[in-house]
Amino acid sequence: MKAAVYDSYGPPEVVKIADIPRPEPSAQQVLVKVHAGTVNRTDCGFRSAEYFITRLFSGLFNPKIKVLGCEFAGVVESVGDKVEKFAPGDKVFGFNDMHWGGHAEYILLQEKDAFTHIPPGLSMDMAAALTEGAHYALCYIRAAKIKQGDKVLVNGGTGAIGSAAIQLLKYFGANVTAVCDTEYMQVVADLGADRVIDYTKEDFTQLNESFDMVFDAVGKSTFGKTKRLLKKNGKYASTELGPRGENPFLALLGTLKKGKKVLFPLPFIRLDDVEFIAKISAEKRFSPLIDRAYSLDQIVDAYRYVDSGQKRGNVIISMTLSAN
Ligand SMILES: NC(=O)c1ccc[n+]([C@@H]2O[C@H](COP(=O)([O-])OP(=O)(O)OC[C@H]3O[C@@H](n4cnc5c(N)ncnc54)[C@H](OP(=O)(O)O)[C@@H]3O)[C@@H](O)[C@H]2O)c1
Repeated sequence: MKAAVYDSYGPPEVVKIADIPRPEPSAQQVLVKVHAGTVNRTDCGFRSAEYFITRLFSGLFNPKIKVLGCEFAGVVESVGDKVEKFAPGDKVFGFNDMHWGGHAEYILLQEKDAFTHIPPGLSMDMAAALTEGAHYALCYIRAAKIKQGDKVLVNGGTGAIGSAAIQLLKYFGANVTAVCDTEYMQVVADLGADRVIDYTKEDFTQLNESFDMVFDAVGKSTFGKTKRLLKKNGKYASTELGPRGENPFLALLGTLKKGKKVLFPLPFIRLDDVEFIAKISAEKRFSPLIDRAYSLDQIVDAYRYVDSGQKRGNVIISMTLSAN
């Protein structure tokens, strides 16, 4: 089968298209023919190993798993004889950052992995982009214990995580102020933001109001600069480690004292999360923001674009697109 393979950490060009053996499902495994995947910042993080910590999971010197792609949508091709939940022909989507494999024509999954049926009527491209941004956003929103009526500021409303966070926060009943650039203000308002701030005209850290949570979904601010925006027990969370890796340390420190805190939750995904995302997608209360699509043959270009930090929402790898 055709796959995007990498043998060493580095820039987008370490990824090559190759022919590798198609896996066969064992008793409790499901083989899915991938119709669409994404290239996202998680793929980029494990491809570049820019943060050393990723090597503790993926291999110290070289990647142990050669095919990335944590998000996927496709059709079940075959199942092992003990599989009960899925059958050939089922349309499924999900997230896997343990075994990866979405950047190939087929992906092999355990029946209990974080994947489920695609909500009726959703395209493969949309289904592929449901989980990465949303599960990170969910993780931060849950850690902050956001409830009905809380005021939340989301910086980076056009990112995969930020655009998902706006919709999930509205689902949980929060009042959302989102920050993005001029061109995408209407898109971000359409995602549900109650107020949109144009970062080219206004510095959100200078606002004269307070929030239950400041969620920097693009990791451009610091706790020091945003602390004044937090209510007495307000929470600050960022998707980046922060200057000199301060955010995890500040989060640890925060467990020892009361008041304003930094949160740095570890983003684990569970099957429950994927099922919840499927449910709110079926209810038309969550829809991933899509930027553009590439074919598998164009995956290096897709990586270059995602590495630029300028994608809007999600970048699709469509197996039905051809390179030209
Ligand atoms: N290491 C990992 O495994 C990992 C995994 C997932 C996410 N993350 C981190 O999480 C962050 C978000 O990822 P993502 O995929 O959601 O983001 P993304 O899709 O790469 O989005 C970046 C978006 O943020 C906007 N942006 C850039 N600078 C901004 C600013 N100063 N203020 C407001 N918006 C700004 C960009 O729009 P403009 O260009 O128009 O400004 C772009 O639309 C990234 O920092 C990423 O590294 C890391």
